[in-house]
Amino acid sequence: MFNTLKKHLTSTSYTWLVTGVAGFIGSNLLEHLLKLDQKVVGLDNFATGHQRNLDEVKSLVSESQWNRFRFIQGDIRDLGDCRASCDGVDYVLHQAALGSVPRSIEDPLTTNAANITGFLNMMVAARDAKVKRFVYAASSSTYGDHPALPKVEDTIGKPLSPYAVTKYVNELYADVFAKTYGFESIGLRYFNVFGPRQDPNGAYAAVIPKWVSALLNRDTVYVNGDGETSRDFCFVENAVMMNVLCALSDNPDAVNQVYNVAVGDRTSLNVLYNHIQDKLIKRVPILEKTEPVYRDFRPGDVRHSQADISKAVRLVGYAPPYAIDAGLEKAMDWYVGFFNKA
Ligand SMILES: NC(=O)c1ccc[n+]([C@@H]2O[C@H](COP(=O)([O-])OP(=O)(O)OC[C@H]3O[C@@H](n4cnc5c(N)ncnc54)[C@H](O)[C@@H]3O)[C@@H](O)[C@H]2O)c1
Repeated sequence: MFNTLKKHLTSTSYTWLVTGVAGFIGSNLLEHLLKLDQKVVGLDNFATGHQRNLDEVKSLVSESQWNRFRFIQGDIRDLGDCRASCDGVDYVLHQAALGSVPRSIEDPLTTNAANITGFLNMMVAARDAKVKRFVYAASSSTYGDHPALPKVEDTIGKPLSPYAVTKYVNELYADVFAKTYGFESIGLRYFNVFGPRQDPNGAYAAVIPKWVSALLNRDTVYVNGDGETSRDFCFVENAVMMNVLCALSDNPDAVNQVYNVAVGDRTSLNVLYNHIQDKLIKRVPILEKTEPVYRDFRPGDVRHSQADISKAVRLVGYAPPYAIDAGLEKAMDWYVGFFNKA
């Protein structure tokens, strides 16, 4: 299915808007769309994204592919910026938001402004610009306190953090826009996405880049809780695939839905730590094996997370090309290169 779509894209050029294009997932979308000779408009305010991510994509595509990219430095909290970026666009892949549960607990107002007001601005702008479809980053945090495993899209619990509230509100708005304006959207509930260009720095770094950075810098690695907390870690190219499949799906039943974006597997933090350490030592043999330090559980975190991906498989033909191990190999190559350059 994906290969057929890729073939279709190499002979048809659409204009895509990627919001959050200077961030981790956004810059991976940019790279793959440009490699498929698509036109891309990118919007970002560099709140957590980086110019270096755009520079790296530039180095990975041809000059003519790069010339198909137009960057707008702007803010989704500003309706004018949203309207300017939606002009002439076929598909929106909306990634811009403030991620991180702890950030949202410390500063719920700023998270709310980007993730709810910004989201609503983008929907209004995309609706008025008559884009073909709006695919947006939702989150597995929407499962909240519901204990069922694996997670199935229509069974959710109560949110455990301000961040989770914002991502759930996105889904509610998307649903209402479908009913009231006939506006087509698809929400992607990403489960712990990882891969090249995921930021290893800062207080709110995600677990994989944070640990890689600590191990390469010979700093202490902290595990929140007993290490048996588990997640469905998803390599970023799986998420790229889902975005493209959902934007272009011609299955009428696939639209105005939310989908889990994951692998359907569960890895504990203890197992993850060993995987990462082994892969880094393979690449940097002078590193020595160390034990992590265990500390308190983090407020707002769910204990276990694993996706049922059968809805995405059935309705849009999702087939994640990367399991965690293959994804970690690619990610470690990238991180070792990144820290060597720094
Ligand atoms: N990475 C994950 O595991 C994960 C999991 C669930 C959901 N998500 C969601 O996926 C999306 C992308 O996440 P990511 O991991 O690439 O994070 P990221 O922080 O690397 O990227 C987000 C991008 O959005 C930009 N941005 C933030 N606020 C903005 C604003 N007001 N105006 C314009 N741009 C703004 C940032 O500068 C950044 O470049 C987010 O919506 C996030 O909530 C990610």
